[in-house]
Amino acid sequence: MSTTAPLHHITITRPDDWHLHVRDGEALRTVVPHTAAQFGRAIIMPNLKPPVTTAAQAVAYAGRIRAAVPAGMAFEPLMTLYLTDNLPADEIARAKDAGVVAVKLYPAGATTNSDAGVTDIRKTYPTLEAMQRAGMLLLVHGEVTSPDIDLFDREAVFIEQQLQPLRRDFPELKIVMEHITTKEAAQYVAESDPFLGATITAHHLLYNRNAIFTGGIRPHYYCLPVLKREVHRQALVAAATGGHAKFFLGTDSAPHPAHLKEHATGCAGCYTAHAAIEMYAEAFDAAGALDKLEAFASFHGPAFYGLPRNSGTITLKRESWTPPESFAFGEAQLKPLRSGEALPWKLVA
Ligand code: DOR
Ligand code: ZN
Repeated sequence: MSTTAPLHHITITRPDDWHLHVRDGEALRTVVPHTAAQFGRAIIMPNLKPPVTTAAQAVAYAGRIRAAVPAGMAFEPLMTLYLTDNLPADEIARAKDAGVVAVKLYPAGATTNSDAGVTDIRKTYPTLEAMQRAGMLLLVHGEVTSPDIDLFDREAVFIEQQLQPLRRDFPELKIVMEHITTKEAAQYVAESDPFLGATITAHHLLYNRNAIFTGGIRPHYYCLPVLKREVHRQALVAAATGGHAKFFLGTDSAPHPAHLKEHATGCAGCYTAHAAIEMYAEAFDAAGALDKLEAFASFHGPAFYGLPRNSGTITLKRESWTPPESFAFGEAQLKPLRSGEALPWKLVA
């Protein structure tokens, strides 16, 4: 812990969000402005219905996202394709030419809109070969889907059963293990070669699994991979605040209509885009590591992706404010994380 007086302002290079869901259609009008107010760029997840599986679809989707950026804000969506058992290898060159930066692997059935995901990783090997050759990144939702494996163990088992063999077979494929949630993942990534990185969400830095069950079941804290025990949260905080270039910011902000989260089979996903950098600042501040926030939020991601850092800055102030109970979300409502609950840091410029 720092012994100096607490900071009241912090100014950092404009950050990026290396893992984001913005959906499509009307939803874009609500969520894109939130992200564009904070971040210079974001990696856009392709798990639409139907998923984004061609370069042409990715380009069209990027256009719809850009159209939702408020006038005067500069925000660049970084597009991804959705890996299926039969994504043709030759789509990779077209995607690369179209500016697509990565391909997302969802094990089939792992999470929201993952039905079209990969059933057997070996079926995708020709496409992964093409990606390795083209320098296209692979982003992985790192959880096995077998009902025999305990929900809380699925990330650690994925590393052993899927990620280790994959990395042996494609040693020069750049892989991001997304939204890591366990000490096993943090350790595996920290000890691996420079071809593997990881994103960490704000909610996994701030909360452990008790948050889902405090005083009753709280569906807005339910996401996948699910929040874990406190020992894992602490390992993630150590990884994020440790200055290690392999770990970078990815919110996994994942909007769902409130009535589908407050439901007998509620959807997975926490909405954090309205206050993302503020929540990261809170987590870093609690760890006495605000001085490490800029590298995690603004430097490590571009370095891993081989992109320049953003120009410009943002400033956060230590000032309490309270996010609204909900936002209009098409015809539905969107309940953000921390709705009606004070946050200690505020984005002011
Ligand atoms: O909680 C999650 N929500 N995890 C995911 O992997 C997908 C996301 C979504 O799309 O809602
Ligand atoms: Zn996600």
